[in-house]
Amino acid sequence: MKRIAIFASGSGSNAEHITDYFAKGNVARVEVIYSNNPKAFVIQRAARLNIPLVLFDREKFYGEETILRDLQSRKIDLIVLAGFLWLIPGNILKTFRDRIVNIHPALLPAYGGKGMYGMAVHEAVIDAGETESGITIHLIDEVYDKGKILLQEKCPVLPGDTPDILAEKVHRLEYEHFPKVIEKMLE
Ligand code: GRF
Repeated sequence: MKRIAIFASGSGSNAEHITDYFAKGNVARVEVIYSNNPKAFVIQRAARLNIPLVLFDREKFYGEETILRDLQSRKIDLIVLAGFLWLIPGNILKTFRDRIVNIHPALLPAYGGKGMYGMAVHEAVIDAGETESGITIHLIDEVYDKGKILLQEKCPVLPGDTPDILAEKVHRLEYEHFPKVIEKMLE
């Protein structure tokens, strides 16, 4: 059984889907969810799913080795970023090289980088008049949103689509593909 750690800053619907997906099989299980946001809904999801939740602040994440040591003590094989908004510090990047995967709600390299998260991404895609968007699942390295792309899947952007409608289409792609890519990485 491989061990997955999820980092999430917000709602955590991907975290929940990934947890459920692996709970049904015997490839891996989600061991822990980490969050930087004490108000994130993912905290309630973790409680409901019975997954340990570790909350941290900037000092713990960037100023100490607390989180790296916690990951190591739980013998984590793979780190999944599912709507996690802080940069991963160098000590974790180095220790988990090629074992940190992120999902971005657009077709990178477009609509990535600073400020491009949450609804801002979908608004930018619609404002630019794009006819398609989608998801990018990629490895994390020192330059954010620039790691090796593992999978991209597209969805149409139709006239009249609002950011909310587009977000829903993108979420559907995320739920379908993210667990499978994670599973493949663990093979
Ligand atoms: C997802 O759209 C993901 O692509 C992005 O943040 C969103 C997180 O949604 N990185 P949720 O918290 O999993 O519901």
